[in-house]
Amino acid sequence: MKHYLSINDIDSLPDWVEEAINLKKDPYQFEGLGKRKTLCLLFFNNSLRTRLSTQKAAMNLGMEVMVMNFGSEGWALEYGDGTIMDQGTSEHIKEAAQVVSQYCDIVAIRAFAGLEDRKKDEAEEVINGFATYASIPVVNMESSVGHPLQALADAITMAENKTKARPKVVLSWAPHPRALPHAVANSFVEMMKRQDAEFVITHPEGYELNPEITQGCRIEHDQDKALENADFVYVKNWSSYMDYGKIVSKDPNWTMTEQKLGKAKFMHCLPVRRNVVVEDAVLDGTQSLVAQQAKNRIYSAQVVLKKILENL
Ligand code: CP
Repeated sequence: MKHYLSINDIDSLPDWVEEAINLKKDPYQFEGLGKRKTLCLLFFNNSLRTRLSTQKAAMNLGMEVMVMNFGSEGWALEYGDGTIMDQGTSEHIKEAAQVVSQYCDIVAIRAFAGLEDRKKDEAEEVINGFATYASIPVVNMESSVGHPLQALADAITMAENKTKARPKVVLSWAPHPRALPHAVANSFVEMMKRQDAEFVITHPEGYELNPEITQGCRIEHDQDKALENADFVYVKNWSSYMDYGKIVSKDPNWTMTEQKLGKAKFMHCLPVRRNVVVEDAVLDGTQSLVAQQAKNRIYSAQVVLKKILENL
């Protein structure tokens, strides 16, 4: 594997999950692997978990880490081919990616969807630009359409908590005051399609995800029905895909409650808006796995970096 851009870069999900759980038991067992290797983290958007867990993962492997808030501190990048750069952009992705490649051995990038132009977001110009013009491996720390480090952490968390070979897993939309991207939900769906599970997606009408991603998945608009006998409930808000980037409902009846959760384990990638997306009692209760998911972000990043380092 050269790049880690999506869940599709995982050759065997069960093997990677097992390897991550093994790394968690003894995080420093490969601390010599990253000696004199540098990871550069470029953030075009905010982060807590991704920034710290990826840095920690690299440190566990003996790597040096450089972090740059590119969105606020870097030059405005141009992505178009042949553009006459006499407007707002100062540097072309071609030079930026080549230059970064000379300072580090792996570059990890976070660049969210703008949610205004679906075609532009799906072109993934930032992460694909780096993958095209950088001469080093590129890791996706959440792009316009995917968050594969999160999805791998979620798979690790489910493996650690499942009590049956084929659990029922529900991805439930929840209300939110702001329009959010589809990346986490997309990667979670892609990851679930590779798991042995009874998987159901539930959301109000108008919140269908990209049908190419959800193809083959059961979609149930009745949340109560979807939640029946669930083992894991993954809650996430996303904006409309069809009416791209718009909020078409803020229905508080979709907020996750203790009563709706029943005996299921609760999952969310964080950050989460308390008492909008999910009520306090769920997050503060014993069925919440959110802290474990956040911890597993270290080991999802570590297994990815380890596999890249082994091929450098
Ligand atoms: N879940 C997640 O990616 O968290 P951050 O946005 O804080 O990195």
